[in-house]
Amino acid sequence: MKLHTIALGCQMSAADADEMAMPLARRGFTPTSTPDDADAILISTCTVRQHAEDRALSLIGSLRPWKEERPERVLIVAGCAAERLGPWIQQRFPFVDLIVGAKSIDSFPQLVEDALGARFDFLAETAETFDTHGAAESFSPVSSYLTIMRGCNYSCSYCIVPAVRGRELYRPVSDILNEARRKIESGARELTLLGQTVNSYESINNGQTVDFADLLRLIDPLPGLKRLRFMSPHPYYVDQNMIAAMAQCPTVCPQLHLPVQSGCDRLLKLMRRNYTRAQFMNKVRLLRQAIPDIVLSTDIIVGFPTETEDDFEETLSLVAELEPASAYCFKYSPRQSTESSLRADDVPQIVKEERLGRLNALVDRLTERALDAHVGQTVEALDEQGGFGRTRGGFKMKWTGPAQPGQLVRVTVAGATRRTLLGDKL
Ligand code: 5AD
Ligand code: SF4
Repeated sequence: MKLHTIALGCQMSAADADEMAMPLARRGFTPTSTPDDADAILISTCTVRQHAEDRALSLIGSLRPWKEERPERVLIVAGCAAERLGPWIQQRFPFVDLIVGAKSIDSFPQLVEDALGARFDFLAETAETFDTHGAAESFSPVSSYLTIMRGCNYSCSYCIVPAVRGRELYRPVSDILNEARRKIESGARELTLLGQTVNSYESINNGQTVDFADLLRLIDPLPGLKRLRFMSPHPYYVDQNMIAAMAQCPTVCPQLHLPVQSGCDRLLKLMRRNYTRAQFMNKVRLLRQAIPDIVLSTDIIVGFPTETEDDFEETLSLVAELEPASAYCFKYSPRQSTESSLRADDVPQIVKEERLGRLNALVDRLTERALDAHVGQTVEALDEQGGFGRTRGGFKMKWTGPAQPGQLVRVTVAGATRRTLLGDKL
């Protein structure tokens, strides 16, 4: 039996999809990249922006013929949009077999068993493939996500995440280390720790408090691990301890996605981000001092309620000062029951688009500059798919030469496309 997984939205959604694929793998499902071959489709949805939610709903709608063609097929909708709109989705799309909200991901195996276990037993092949472990392994690529916490204790005024994912819950250290070891054993060489504010991690292990910096130091020495990354950190929790752990752990990559959202203090306050521009830039200075080759990227929202042209120009100037290698830039969209949705969405659509265009043009220039700076250099790449992988700084890279998934290779950069380095393997 074949499972097609579709993860919409953020890395958290992708990690949830991987996690949910596991119990299905144990049920005998092997992955397929084409829906037509699939006996089951799992959609991990995102609700953080209206656009993400609209995409999820139109995707579900478009799968009606797929389901009608063979009604015994299974369609599972999970994640944040499922949490927010579950009953409505079920009513609107009655052909969906199972809806699992983001807060219930931990109980996904049980929910699948309860809702579909009996049915899976009737599906052909299940009996033969049940209890084989081969299938599960193929869900673990060279670079793997590892969720260390769920939820968010912040209440950024524009953000729907705390409402759909709930308060922060931290996984115990032993669970995290066990999952890390398991992933490494099944071929992972790079782990990306995930959490909504990943660096607010905190737990007690053997009577000792373990914070995020401690956790990096515990994962770093695991045998077989070559690279460690994490996302997304909240700027508030970036401190000297975390920076020192990043600088000192050999597997931790010199790369950080640090969402800033705006360069204007008035808007940062309205957004309830809990830092000023100067505080953010000071943390960046400390990071660059300790890790000179660190590659930074960020998230930015344009057109937040009341944003003036001057406010927006402060964001442009912050980006010019920060010089991120890339940035995800979004037009503000009001999300239900968030604090900012009570304000008028008063920046006209056309102005939001114009600002987004100017911001993206600046970011594209910075990305090009960052890529071009590599040309002629020899860098380390982790081969993820045979001739495709990433540098330690997180740049995508393609090269010619024998395919060696899982290997670290040295590659001389010959040029770059818009987003990818091109190289020759030494
Ligand atoms: N409108 C636009 N962008 C948003 N983001 C979160 N909520 C909204 C919203 N209501 C962006 C932020 C966040 C990223 C995951 O999505 O930049 O960092
Ligand atoms: Fe949303 Fe803010 Fe929490 Fe990030 S820190 S998930 S933007 S509330």
